[in-house]
Amino acid sequence: MENFNFYNPVTVLFGKGKISEISSQIPKNAKILMTYGGGSIKKNGVYDQVMEALEGFDVTEFSGIEANPHFETLMKAVEIVRSKKIDFLLAVGGGSVVDGTKFISAATYFEGDEWNIMAKRAPIHKAVDLGAVLTLPATGSEMNSGGVVTRVATKEKMAFGNALLFPKFSVLDPETTYSLPKRQVINGIVDAFVHVMEQYLTYPVNSPVQDRFAEGLLLTLIEEGPKALASDTPDYETRANLMWAATMALNGLIGVGVKNDWATHMIGHELTAFHGIDHAVTLAIVMPGVLAHLKQDRSEKLLQYAERVWNITEGTDEEKKTLAIEKTEAFFNQVGIKTRLSDHNVGQDSVDIIAKRFEERGYVGMLPDVSAKDVPKILESRL
Ligand code: NZQ
Ligand code: ZN
Repeated sequence: MENFNFYNPVTVLFGKGKISEISSQIPKNAKILMTYGGGSIKKNGVYDQVMEALEGFDVTEFSGIEANPHFETLMKAVEIVRSKKIDFLLAVGGGSVVDGTKFISAATYFEGDEWNIMAKRAPIHKAVDLGAVLTLPATGSEMNSGGVVTRVATKEKMAFGNALLFPKFSVLDPETTYSLPKRQVINGIVDAFVHVMEQYLTYPVNSPVQDRFAEGLLLTLIEEGPKALASDTPDYETRANLMWAATMALNGLIGVGVKNDWATHMIGHELTAFHGIDHAVTLAIVMPGVLAHLKQDRSEKLLQYAERVWNITEGTDEEKKTLAIEKTEAFFNQVGIKTRLSDHNVGQDSVDIIAKRFEERGYVGMLPDVSAKDVPKILESRL
C-alpha cells in the first residue's frame, strides 16, 4: 500500500427528519446564504423543512444554480456574499448546488481572476464555511472537498479542490430523494459506480481493505440500483443504501493508499462541456472504451473485478476481461443509459475537437496509461 494522509472532517447527519438538526451545526450569529437550484426543493418540501430549521437565523437566498453549475451564475452569488458579509453558506440540492457553493466559498476571499481557482488550481487560503442538505445521491460532493464548475463562455468544465472546502456538515435524508425523476436516480447510480472504478480499477498495491470496500460498494450499487428503479413508489431502505453508497464512493476512504485514475471523468467532462450531456451519461459512454484500452496494462485488477464483482470464473483471462467490460456496459444499459456517442448525436467532428483539447492540455487522468494521444482512439471506439 502507498503512504497517505487521510482527513475528512464532515459531520454526516443521516436519516429521516435530520434536516431539523441543522441549526445545532451552524454558529448562532451566522449570516447565512442559502443556495439552491432551479426549484425542485420548493416542490418536494425540502425548502420548507430547511426554512423551519433556520428560524431565527439571518438568511439570504440565492437560487438558480444550474446543473453543471455556471461560473457566470456563481460569481453573482460571490458578489452577494462579499457585499452582505455572509459568513455561512448552506447548499440545498444535488452535486451541482454543493459544488457551486464550494466555489462561492473559495472565490469570496480570492484575489485575482476567480476562474484560476480551476484553470490554474490557484491556492486558496481562506474560505467561507459551508454546510449541505443533499437531495441527489451521486457525486459524493457532500463529503469531499472538490467541485466542478463550467464556464459557458468558453465551454470549459474544470475541477477544483481544497481541504478548506469540506462541508462542516451534510444532511443525508433519503426521503429528500423521493421526488427525483428516474433519470437522476439512474445518473446517481452510474456516477457513484464510476467513482469507485476510478479508484479501484487501476493497479494492485496490496490494499485488500480498499479493494473489498470498493467491491462492496460496486455490488451494493448493482443490487440496490435496479431495485430503486423497479418501483414507482420509493422504498426508504433502498434509497438509504443508495445514498450512503454514493457518499462512500467519493469521500476519500477507498482512494487512499491506492492508485487513482480519473481518465473517464476527464474525458466525460468534455462531452458535457461541448454537448451538455448529463455527467453520469458521459461516464457510461466513455468508461467501456477506457477499460478496453487498458485491457493489457490493467490486466490484474480487471481480472479481480471480473471474478469478485461479476462472478466470472470461467474462460481464458482474455475472455474474462472482455466479459467483465461487457457486463459493465450492460449494467449501464440495464439501468437505462445509452452508451454510444451516436445515441447522443455526437460524431467524429466532436471527437476531433475534444482530442485537440487534450493534446493542448497534455494530460488526461492521473496515470500515464491513458495519454492525450489515446483520447481519439478511445472516443472513436464509442462512436
Ligand atoms: O436544480 P433543481 O431544481 O434542484 O433540479 C435538479 C437538477 O435539475 C434535480 N434535482 C436534484 N435533487 C432533486 C432534483 N429533482 C427532484 N427532486 C430532488 N430531490 O436534478 C437535476 C440534476 O442535479 P445536479 O445537482 O446537477 O446533479 P448531480 O448531483 O448529478 O451533480 C452533477 C454535477 O456534479 C459534478 C458533475 O460534474 C456535475 O457538474 N461532480 C462533482 C463531483 C464532486 N464534487 O466530487 C464529482 C463528480 O464526479 C462530478 O463530476
Ligand atoms: Zn462523477
